[in-house]
Amino acid sequence: MSRPMGLRYSTIVAVHRDTPQNNPSIPFEFTTENMERAKDILQKYPPQYKKAAVMPLLDLGQRQLGFTSISVMNYVAKLLEMPPMRVYEVATFYTMYNRDPMGKYHIQLCTTTPCQLCGSDSIMEAVTKHLNIKPGQTTPDGMFTLSEVECLGACVNGPMLAINDDYYEDLTPNGIVKVISKLQKGEKVQPGVEGGGRSTCEPKSGQKVLLSKEPFDVSTVTRSDL
Ligand code: FES
Repeated sequence: MSRPMGLRYSTIVAVHRDTPQNNPSIPFEFTTENMERAKDILQKYPPQYKKAAVMPLLDLGQRQLGFTSISVMNYVAKLLEMPPMRVYEVATFYTMYNRDPMGKYHIQLCTTTPCQLCGSDSIMEAVTKHLNIKPGQTTPDGMFTLSEVECLGACVNGPMLAINDDYYEDLTPNGIVKVISKLQKGEKVQPGVEGGGRSTCEPKSGQKVLLSKEPFDVSTVTRSDL
């Protein structure tokens, strides 16, 4: 039975069902460029433990195809001489492997407590309203997939979300709509902290430490400083 796009099922993590976009008869292999990358990755592991490269190779396959299809998993299994089931186990355990076709931009919006306390609900509302999709859905033009995720490790800059590999932090509803609108027009966007209020994760009221421009001379530290 095929699964309609855009619906989330509790079985999404564990079960593969053949669909026209994702079935074992669809061929997959690395591009020449990615095969070079794969060889570089494999060199990091002793030949008898090459299966340890399963995660970076699945990631490479996902970056090439846009998602971790059954064909990507089978290809990686063949490359690493592993039983396909072992690869399926890895790909279904880690949620960063997307096993369904994704939009060009994967928006992962954190709604865990620190981000929620800083206003992630309003960001979710702005994104869902602007794109007219819910978490787990992809826009009909295939541009955006929205996911609601747990902590992405940037709590101090919440509310935040990731678009593909980049983080957008200290968000406001208007700010994130502007970012998405630019992507829709094919314009460049600047990841990082919105509004330029702070450059990284220093306190919002200003940097409190490491204020000296001079390099710190560790030899001047005495026991009483510790
Ligand atoms: S709670 Fe949102 S990044 Fe940690």
